[in-house]
Amino acid sequence: MSAVTIESLSKHVGETVTLQGWLYNSRSSGKLLFLVLRDGTGLCQCVFEKKPETEAAFKAAEHLGQESSLAIEGVVRAEPRSVGGHELSVTAVRVYQNASGYPITPKAHGIDFLMKNRHLWFRSQRQWAILRVRHTVVQGIREYFDSHGFVLIDTPIFAPAAGEGSQTLFEVDYFGEKVYLAQTGQLYVEAACMAHRKVYCFGPTFRAEKSKTRRHLTEFWMVEPEIAFAELDDVIALAEDFVCHLVRKCLRERRAELELLGRDLAKLEAIDKPFYWITYSQAADILRSDRVRQMLVGDLERAKARVAELAATIDAKEKERTAPGIKEWKADKLAQEILDLRDELADQEEAVRNIPKHMELAAGFQWGGDLGGSDETIIARLHERPVFVTHYPRDCKAFYMKRNADDHRVVNNLDLLAPEGYGEIIGGSQREDDLDVLLERMREEKLDEADYAWYLDLRRYGTVPHGGFGLGVERTVAWICGLRHIRETIPYARMMGKIYP
Ligand code: 4AD
Ligand code: MG
Repeated sequence: MSAVTIESLSKHVGETVTLQGWLYNSRSSGKLLFLVLRDGTGLCQCVFEKKPETEAAFKAAEHLGQESSLAIEGVVRAEPRSVGGHELSVTAVRVYQNASGYPITPKAHGIDFLMKNRHLWFRSQRQWAILRVRHTVVQGIREYFDSHGFVLIDTPIFAPAAGEGSQTLFEVDYFGEKVYLAQTGQLYVEAACMAHRKVYCFGPTFRAEKSKTRRHLTEFWMVEPEIAFAELDDVIALAEDFVCHLVRKCLRERRAELELLGRDLAKLEAIDKPFYWITYSQAADILRSDRVRQMLVGDLERAKARVAELAATIDAKEKERTAPGIKEWKADKLAQEILDLRDELADQEEAVRNIPKHMELAAGFQWGGDLGGSDETIIARLHERPVFVTHYPRDCKAFYMKRNADDHRVVNNLDLLAPEGYGEIIGGSQREDDLDVLLERMREEKLDEADYAWYLDLRRYGTVPHGGFGLGVERTVAWICGLRHIRETIPYARMMGKIYP
């Protein structure tokens, strides 16, 4: 009999099938053994009944460790109360390996331990769900551009010059020459859009981010479309339609995974066109407004109250956990709850420390500076749909952005802030297509013209208005999944101080 997968069980009700997988957990009542099998497509409870003829197999199965690899044969029954909606009445168990001492137990584990065991942590339900959402986001990215007339242009990872700020470059010794890991493929797709009109690149990018934040990786994936004969409005319309496509696709194809993650789906269902659109100057006014001050004062009060509440709950649970005679499974369950509560407590304490700083930053926001992470969070929280912030002061943005025709102090750029405080998921702009203005800007930035000679050629031979943007995959996945931290959105996270496994 050939094996079937758990996700296809609805087609096999009443049949005898074989499932292949790993033991997620098991529980015995003496006469019945409940083996929860994980096969990569889902979970299924397999019920093994002790009978005289199965006694030996039953005994062996009772002693299987977590993550033992198995093939289980049995009859499929519909069982709406069971995980996945089906159960297997076991007729035979074949063991590939009886594993023992699997490190990620149902007991409590801290994040450092889990990150070190990333190669095993993949198997846990939440991690499984997140990477499936990521897969669908990546598929949605390719699908969108491929079906809208864009040509894929693969851009190099070894780059001879900076594409974004020079502070975040990773240096590489390239046969004795100093080159960098690509921070962006943008300059290269700008050249390609003059050949194909609409292009995109999609790959890993590298930034030596020397701070540990929830939003920054040193290696992340970015998709960068670039279109010829486009101005800022065209780039914004593209970004808006594209983001809607990604969210809708995840809601359609990964509903179960998002539910497993506890995502508030109504918040995602609300994502629709048109997004909000404010200018940087309007954002600055909002930050300095009384409304924002009051919101933050309220935040601070709530955070303080929550700290007190959490501390009390943790105390109570700790007493319960260490009470004499407590059952082991109950103590384990409490330990995990306490760990989660402690995580939240650390977050809330951090909020209590940071909110006054964020208030000060927002209230004292000066026109000319870049929006910081906390500023973005504030703006994003005030809107239930994504917000475009446009027309930043040119001094806080990259040299290639198009100078605004009416106000030379600002550029025609866009940042897209995701709601619920997620902040920037897209950065982009119309590009400076005027050779003289671009040269002037490069001199201001002390960039060596010789390094960019090929790029300047684009402004010499048939220059046209053009533009594009970059969307970060990990920040988008974090937002769609509703995760606090970006580190779980990529299979193997790279951050300052984190390179294993
Ligand atoms: O705003 P950024 O720096 O824009 C560019 O790189 C442009 N060259 C894109 C373009 O116009 N073609 O980065 C774009 C996006 C950010 O909005 C964010 O989603 C993501 O890339 N990003 C990061 N994600 C994770 N970790 C980091 N360190 C990131 N830096 C940027
Ligand atoms: Mg940016």
